[in-house]
Amino acid sequence: MRGRRGFGFLLALSVALVSFGCEGDTGPQGPQGPEGPQGPPGDDGTVSEFAFQGDFGSACLHCHATITNNYVTTGHRFAFDDLGAENQSNLYCVQCHTTGFNCDVNADTGEIIDGSCVEPDDGYSGYIGDDSEEGLARKASLEGVQCESCHGAMGPDFNAHVPEISFSTWENSLCAGCHDAQIDEWQTSGHAQVAGGDVDAFNEEHYVGRTSCDYCHTSEGYIRENDPSYADYDFGDRFSHIGCPTCHDPHVGEDGGGNEAQLRTVGVVELSYTTPWEPGDEEAPVIEGYGPGQTCVQCHKARRDNDNVANQIANGYGHFGPHGSPQGDMFIGAGSYLIPDLDYGQDADGYVSHPHQGIPDGCVTCHMAFDEAFGGHIVHNFNPDIGVCADACHPGATDFDVNGVQTAIRGKLDQVAVLMGYADWDTLYLTLDADNFDWTVEQREAVYGAEFVYASGDLGVHNPNYANALLDNAIAYLTP
Ligand code: HEC
Ligand code: HEC
Ligand code: HEC
Ligand code: HEC
Ligand code: HEC
Ligand code: HEC
Ligand code: HEC
Ligand code: HEC
Repeated sequence: MRGRRGFGFLLALSVALVSFGCEGDTGPQGPQGPEGPQGPPGDDGTVSEFAFQGDFGSACLHCHATITNNYVTTGHRFAFDDLGAENQSNLYCVQCHTTGFNCDVNADTGEIIDGSCVEPDDGYSGYIGDDSEEGLARKASLEGVQCESCHGAMGPDFNAHVPEISFSTWENSLCAGCHDAQIDEWQTSGHAQVAGGDVDAFNEEHYVGRTSCDYCHTSEGYIRENDPSYADYDFGDRFSHIGCPTCHDPHVGEDGGGNEAQLRTVGVVELSYTTPWEPGDEEAPVIEGYGPGQTCVQCHKARRDNDNVANQIANGYGHFGPHGSPQGDMFIGAGSYLIPDLDYGQDADGYVSHPHQGIPDGCVTCHMAFDEAFGGHIVHNFNPDIGVCADACHPGATDFDVNGVQTAIRGKLDQVAVLMGYADWDTLYLTLDADNFDWTVEQREAVYGAEFVYASGDLGVHNPNYANALLDNAIAYLTP
């Protein structure tokens, strides 16, 4: 897509053109071709002598054509315009809405703090107050958030360029300095706090570097899985928590064919467990239509396939139940093992429906609320927000136990455990992975659904109808 594999060829070609010259004799003129699509704005791409090339990537266009053409469709490209005339001279705002602003600004006075500027000094901040022709031209070419805001000043010499690149949010985040509000929230989230937020400890976890796991558990794995230009990329052996560049691809905006909010992927997700259908069948359940919420279900899904589940029920399994992340399946009301001949209230298409499924952006609507505070942004701690529930449908709700749903589900989990001969659900769960080998097939059939409800982590909130059906049927089935 981005043509990473083409780089070597393009570079070789450009070197060849430079070394051997490329002008031949002019032939007769051919017929005029059809009109092409409108090209990106910007000028002809002359390499400048400055450390910050600016000019909206025109110096990169030659070799990184797709990226550069797509980049100009992102909000970053227009970040200076969006300040509006009244704020384009307010340095406090300008510092994050331009390229190469290498000084700190005093938030109270709006002035550059003496001695705070660092090299190179020919970025936007180097021309403050310079209204010469050159100064104005440089400022104009450094407006907005450009390639070098993230990749660092490229300098005039491209032949040996080693730009900054990072897939991490804890270390060397390319988004820091501008998106600190989101980064601060992210730092408290489950995504950032795996292994206590310690990157070394994270890298010692068993799933780092395991290709069957790392595409959901690491930033690099997810990028490799979803961006063909990284298929053969050497990421080294240091992997990163799921962070900004995992979910966002800053190189393409909606007008360039990308997704809303620069999201890397919001594709349709096919469930892995499709019984009674075969995977890929047109009737097999899918998660689709939730806009930016489709991002979450790329990873938050049950994962076990038809063969695996059949084997779990028949013989037992060392990680009994779905993968620890069946939220997507739970939400759409499909994807758990169902005991044959029992009624779970599925519709003709195999889904157990609930009004929550009408929430437009699904996961994102509840887990990424919009915060009105300063400027207003979408909160990035990924915790559900009770305000969303209260404002939309449950006036006065102060906790997630709306209508006692969570309390009831908790009670039913305990009931299943007691019927299985355990004191309560927590006791059963402790030895679930070992004990299930000794249970009868019928016991495994019942407990699979209960574990599916528990693993979703919401105690029925995502889809109370499905959660209750799974537990009610388990209880009925286990009751002598
Ligand atoms: C003369 C061709 C050429 C030009 C011009 C050029 N690049 Fe590159 N760039 C390359 C090649 C070749 C690679 C290596 C690709 C690879 O590793 O497969 C690369 C890699 C990169 C990388 C990835 C580094 C990594 O670790 O994977 C970034 C970021 C980058 N370029 C940014 C830029 C920016 C920004 C500009 C414009 C200011 C630019 N490049 C101009 C040829 C060029
Ligand atoms: C610390 C860096 C920073 C400062 C200072 C800053 N902004 Fe921003 N601004 C951002 C970031 C990052 C975004 C995008 C994310 C978001 O919406 O929170 C943004 C988004 C915006 C947007 C929304 C653009 C759109 O159309 O989506 C506007 C308008 C804006 N800023 C104006 C201002 C103004 C006016 C000031 C000065 C009073 C200012 N900003 C100061 C970083 C900053
Ligand atoms: C908002 C920050 C940001 C901006 C602006 C940005 N990049 Fe990147 N770039 C990244 C991040 C993060 C990565 C690694 C993850 C990825 O590729 O999405 C990256 C990776 C790359 C790569 C290597 C990956 C690949 O697909 O080959 C190249 C080349 C590159 N950028 C070039 C550019 C060019 C050229 C521009 C300007 C036209 C640009 N970038 C603008 C943040 C940015
Ligand atoms: C130099 C400051 C700066 C850096 C660095 C930066 N951003 Fe931004 N970002 C902004 C501003 C300012 C906006 C608001 C743009 C506008 O006016 O629409 C923005 C907007 C966005 C948006 C909203 C969607 C859009 O297209 O406007 C996303 C998503 C985003 N940034 C992600 C990132 C990510 C991910 C990184 C790091 C890889 C990053 N940004 C690095 C300043 C920055
Ligand atoms: C787990 C996935 C995920 C991660 C990690 C993530 N984001 Fe987002 N981000 C999203 C989704 C989904 C949206 C769209 C929300 C919507 O449209 O309701 C979004 C929206 C945004 C927006 C635009 C919304 C606005 O406020 O106007 C910005 C800016 C942004 N993210 C920046 C960041 C930054 C910076 C980081 C790193 C701290 C980050 N994101 C990490 C998923 C993620
Ligand atoms: C790249 C895969 C991936 C994506 C995309 C993703 N997550 Fe996650 N999420 C995980 C993993 C893996 C964990 C467990 C912590 C870890 O290992 O990072 C997790 C943890 C969480 C947690 C904390 C759970 C707990 O037990 O404390 C919440 C809440 C969450 N994610 C919500 C979301 C939402 C909402 C979205 C969409 C905006 C999303 N996630 C997108 C992989 C992902
Ligand atoms: C399709 C995406 C995906 C894949 C592939 C994946 N995981 Fe996960 N995994 C997740 C998500 C998302 C969570 C977090 C769920 C939560 O916290 O609610 C998770 C949670 C976990 C947990 C926490 C324990 C639990 O059950 O709560 C472990 C351990 C784990 N995964 C191990 C692995 C291993 C080992 C592999 C490879 C064999 C793997 N995962 C593959 C998405 C995935
Ligand atoms: C109707 C609002 C709503 C929707 C839609 C929603 N969630 Fe939740 N989610 C919640 C609530 C409420 C909880 C339980 C929080 C609690 O009890 O503390 C929860 C719990 C979770 C948890 C477990 C968190 C933890 O700390 O263990 C994860 C992970 C999660 N949701 C991910 C998702 C994903 C992925 C989607 C989309 C498929 C989604 N949610 C859809 C409201 C929602």
